[in-house]
Amino acid sequence: MKVDIDRLSRELATLATFSDAPEPAVTRVVYSETWQQARAWVVGLCADSGLVWREDGVGSIFARWVGTEPELPAIAMGSHIDAIPNAGAYDGTVGVLGGLEAIRTLQRSGVQPRRSIELIMFCAEEPTLFGIGCFSSRMMAGLLDGSELRDREGRTLYDHIGMHPPVRLPEGCYEAFVELHIEQGPLLERAGIPLGIVTAIAAPATWHILVEGEGGHAGAVLMPDRRDAFCAAAEVALAVERAATSSGAIDTVGTTGVCDIFPGAVNSVPSRVRIEMDVRDIDGDRRDRVLAEIEAACAGIGGRRGVRITKRVINADPPAACDARVIAALETAAGRLKYRKMVSRAYHDSLFMARVAPTGMLFIPCRNGVSHRPDEYASPEAIAAGVETLAGALALLAR
Ligand code: GLV
Ligand code: MN
Ligand code: MN
Repeated sequence: MKVDIDRLSRELATLATFSDAPEPAVTRVVYSETWQQARAWVVGLCADSGLVWREDGVGSIFARWVGTEPELPAIAMGSHIDAIPNAGAYDGTVGVLGGLEAIRTLQRSGVQPRRSIELIMFCAEEPTLFGIGCFSSRMMAGLLDGSELRDREGRTLYDHIGMHPPVRLPEGCYEAFVELHIEQGPLLERAGIPLGIVTAIAAPATWHILVEGEGGHAGAVLMPDRRDAFCAAAEVALAVERAATSSGAIDTVGTTGVCDIFPGAVNSVPSRVRIEMDVRDIDGDRRDRVLAEIEAACAGIGGRRGVRITKRVINADPPAACDARVIAALETAAGRLKYRKMVSRAYHDSLFMARVAPTGMLFIPCRNGVSHRPDEYASPEAIAAGVETLAGALALLAR
């Protein structure tokens, strides 16, 4: 089986030009004009390869290579093309365009799968628009109905796309799901190993925290009288870091990645701050203990500083285990290529597809482990190894 890596590299480069940020950065937020154009372009490529496609109620795409026994549950695979602000060109896109190239590779080598093979382009893996990651795969798994989603301006899903759910997938619709993705960490590259076969996906939690203090004139309000919402929020961010660092496990991570200060003037004491924080672990109970510690810290900070601190839980998902049969198919397909079994610390639509079908993930190395940055990079050789292994695993599962 020979992957056409030159064509795939060109396609990845073209997809990166659909961006709202100057090169090499990629910004492609779900439902933006740019995202719509990129999605239409990928759908065109799928159609050119003879795939039959459909769109669900929120804009995810399902492109099917029909097998010789189309009534059997299909083998699904895929990833996302939405990109966070100032991201790179490989997160998600390798699983979409690489997934398409895996199908084309099988087509060229004369494979005739018994089961259909379906490429899914999830409409939004990233949390940029609604603050919650993977909303489309959550809906496919029946974990979210979509009516609860609001963007920062209070707009709903309906306001954005004008379509209605449900998008829940029927039980038993897929025999298996596989996602090819860049590792987004340094382990494979450091070890000189071309493939990572994922055994479990870490449990993410997101809270939006509102800190309400009292504003005033930056010159006139004396320091002992202050109830500065930003200083309290800064303490909350440090508490997130402390709680994650002291969990006792390197697998616990905590990040405060958003901080909106109101009114946001240099000569005005911040009266209201909204922060968004993210805590993850492959051990769900340990993650929850860290969250409890952060909650206790918030109560302490609020009391001491005379500010009100309230939280909204956006998500607190359990971890997911990958399926033994999908793992075995990936191991067989790896052939002579070395692989390492590993956990995924990033979340992926696979976390929720694991509720729909037996699921596995395949990682390839990315340069310096960098992701969610414009200098994100995976070499053509690394991508080709991933696509070839994915194609082999799909052929085995679809037999
Ligand atoms: C996905 O992009 C994540 O934040 O893990
Ligand atoms: Mn990402
Ligand atoms: Mn991704």
